[in-house]
Amino acid sequence: MSLFSDQRNLSWNPPDTSSRIGITLETYILEGMLGFPAATGAFTSLLNQIGLAAKLVTSKVRRAGLANVLGYTGQTNVQGEIVQKLDEVANETLLSVLGRRGHCAAVVSEELGEMRILSTDPRAKYVVVVDPLDGSSNIDVNISIGTIFGVLRKGDGKLGADPSDFLRPGRDLVAAGYVLYGSSTLLVLTTGLGGVHGFTYDPTVGEFFLSHENIRIPERGATFSINEGHSARWPEAVRRWNAWIKEERKEEGRPYGARYVGSLVADAHRTLLKGGIFAYPADRGGQGKLRLLYEANPFAFLFEAAGGKASTGSDRILDLVPKSLHERVPLILGSPRDVDDFEQFLRGER
Ligand code: AHG
Ligand code: MN
Ligand code: MN
Repeated sequence: MSLFSDQRNLSWNPPDTSSRIGITLETYILEGMLGFPAATGAFTSLLNQIGLAAKLVTSKVRRAGLANVLGYTGQTNVQGEIVQKLDEVANETLLSVLGRRGHCAAVVSEELGEMRILSTDPRAKYVVVVDPLDGSSNIDVNISIGTIFGVLRKGDGKLGADPSDFLRPGRDLVAAGYVLYGSSTLLVLTTGLGGVHGFTYDPTVGEFFLSHENIRIPERGATFSINEGHSARWPEAVRRWNAWIKEERKEEGRPYGARYVGSLVADAHRTLLKGGIFAYPADRGGQGKLRLLYEANPFAFLFEAAGGKASTGSDRILDLVPKSLHERVPLILGSPRDVDDFEQFLRGER
């Protein structure tokens, strides 16, 4: 039988380049598909550095039980919290990767009391805020944890960065994102302008691949996420909201389901994808537990870019001007209608 008698269609079909399958994080950034001017090579290079750091931290997280990085270091950090070995490993990994290629002038990290200068080269135009390992209390029980980051431009005309480059409202962020070390490793990021996009890590290839393009949060959800163990310390209005959201009122879509992982990255990611509300309100007579620079601001930036809302319960998170690098802030994050409901309770309108 001659080679050509076979009736199958042997003509060559060009690859479908419009396909969204197989787009790596690097390609997505380089092709400017995050909605920022692709021309800024330093910016694309910095974002790809963050992607590299995420790969390195992922490998350490996935081997935590084996590589003797479980447990405590025996020290406490500036927050007065016990430092887990993985907190430190993730922090060192991020600092060393961000320090290469000279685009990042300085870092503020949950694990460092002071700002860390990485470069005084005038070409280092960005500074980074980072929570290297979020949800530390869940490390030893193998529950999802994460990394949170935000990118700001360093003030013009300066050789080295200084704290004033960080003590700016979150609306000045030029990029923000997180890595969720869950059943798979997912990196979600935005530049604010071009939408919110998720990339799932394929360890067999060692690449992040586009998996959640243009994430949009539903107008309203059906779950609420708050640590009810602290309810005795909440403002009275929060307790009234909490009782209201659990009322049996099917016609009004209540009660909402309760979900609380205890890792901000996990609770926020579920809320971003499914809608609803996450709340870590003021308590202990203070401002709550979450930190403005590297927990609240990056998530507020992401949620607003995805059509959601982020407030203290009364003020827009992204308008807050930080007074100190590690200051805490109440964080109410979620679907716009759900955050509106919460704010009405805090204004005494309900
Ligand atoms: P971190 O591990 O970076 O200190 O963050 C832990 C935070 C956050 O991930 C989570 O939402 C919150 O702590 C949970 O606090 P409670 O245990 O008080 O609910
Ligand atoms: Mn955290
Ligand atoms: Mn942390």
